Amino acid sequence: MGGSAPRRDERRSAESAGFVGRRAELLGGRQLLARSRLVTLTGPGGVGKTRLALHLADRIHRTFPDGIHFVHLSGLDDPALVPLAAADALGLHGHTDRPPPDALTEQVGERHLLLVLDDCEHLVTACAELTAALLHGTPNTRVLATSRHRLGLTGEHLLELRPLPVPDADGDLSDADRHPALALFADRAAAVLPGFRLTQANRAAVARLCRSLDGLPLAIELAAGRLRDVGLDRLADGRLHSLRATIDRSHRLCTEQERLTWARASVLAGAFDLETAEAVCADGVRLRRGEVLEAVSGLVDKSVLIREATAGGVRYRLLDTLRHYGLDRLRALPEEEAATRRRHRDRTQRQADTGEHACDTTTRRRADRDSLRTAPDLGLTPRESEVAELVAQGLANQQIAERLVIARRTAEGHVERILGKLGLSNRSQLAAWVTARR
Ligand SMILES: Nc1ncnc2c1ncn2[C@@H]1O[C@H](COP(=O)(O)OP(=O)(O)OP(=O)(O)O)[C@@H](O)[C@H]1O
Ligand SMILES: [Mg+2]
Repeated sequence: MGGSAPRRDERRSAESAGFVGRRAELLGGRQLLARSRLVTLTGPGGVGKTRLALHLADRIHRTFPDGIHFVHLSGLDDPALVPLAAADALGLHGHTDRPPPDALTEQVGERHLLLVLDDCEHLVTACAELTAALLHGTPNTRVLATSRHRLGLTGEHLLELRPLPVPDADGDLSDADRHPALALFADRAAAVLPGFRLTQANRAAVARLCRSLDGLPLAIELAAGRLRDVGLDRLADGRLHSLRATIDRSHRLCTEQERLTWARASVLAGAFDLETAEAVCADGVRLRRGEVLEAVSGLVDKSVLIREATAGGVRYRLLDTLRHYGLDRLRALPEEEAATRRRHRDRTQRQADTGEHACDTTTRRRADRDSLRTAPDLGLTPRESEVAELVAQGLANQQIAERLVIARRTAEGHVERILGKLGLSNRSQLAAWVTARR
């Protein structure tokens, strides 16, 4: 997933799905952002960095008259696309001849805005370069990054996020509000077992469970998702330790259809709708189209998929850690991965051909764009991406050659290769494809 514009929907859903604890971190984050232009939330996978960034953004949006803009990087693999994803999130698309970070800096100018670079760890260098360019080249931009590792820039302030505090074995459990880990478990448990709440009778078992999960929010959510199948006592007494083991156990509890859906949907970064899930996950043999909805609902119950109701309809999303787990499973079977990516590419192309994105609502386009970013265009080199963009602007090969100061034959070669890589047959399909990704 790449960039996306400010996410009011996302901010609201962050609210509605029961945010717990983190008072000190919210305050700390707010104070750090008031006095520093670069704050990085660090911590292990699943600890709640993204969630805290969303919540913090919700609290401080008035401080930034030109908005808070999220750049979701988890699905992006190519460092060269980081500035483009940021431009996308900021709604800046004007073409200039300057290299991307400089062009961005120029366009941001004096705006008072906060750029949130979410999930930077796999693109730390590119994120650091972009951040340095913005901080040096503009007077009023601030950056909030979430990353398992620091960006390593001078002036970077770190806010280290630890797992949620868990009660001591012999601690007082009467006030669950003082134990956000327990509150989180209860909130998610109520989603799978309506009516579930913390009681005198179950508190000790929930506390034991949260302790065994080291207070890691993602692990707590996954455990809650298994409550209906396993029961609280067995959950609490089980030897649940590493996150990987927790995810393995969630995976084992899935039906065959759910496992296939999990693995195959992991090629989709960002939010996707049911139709996309059906097109990408169903192969008509091991998983039929009509079975995908049930599998998706099962994965929502198990907290593997997040369900978001947006203005553009219901969307689903795999958390990053779980998406990588799914990708590992998919990659274990190379032909399975190739077939899934082929279905994804076909879906992307059909959407481009029918202009589905162009006539859709903005909200939906934005969410789809996230998943289109992981479409199998990742084989495009930065130069090819640039050429594709110029084709979409309607430039002929000769004009592209002049613009990029290359030979016409070279421009033709680029266009041929791009069409080949994307499986498209002509320039207008390519233009539609590029437009759909904006
Ligand atoms: N304070 C919280 N209240 C409620 N839910 C939370 C909280 N913190 C985290 N969660 C939930 O735990 C899960 C993992 O959180 P999140 O995705 O923010 O982790 P992360 O640190 O960004 O992980 P990664 O390094 O993989 O990006 C999410 O489903 C999130 O909603
Ligand atoms: Mg994250």
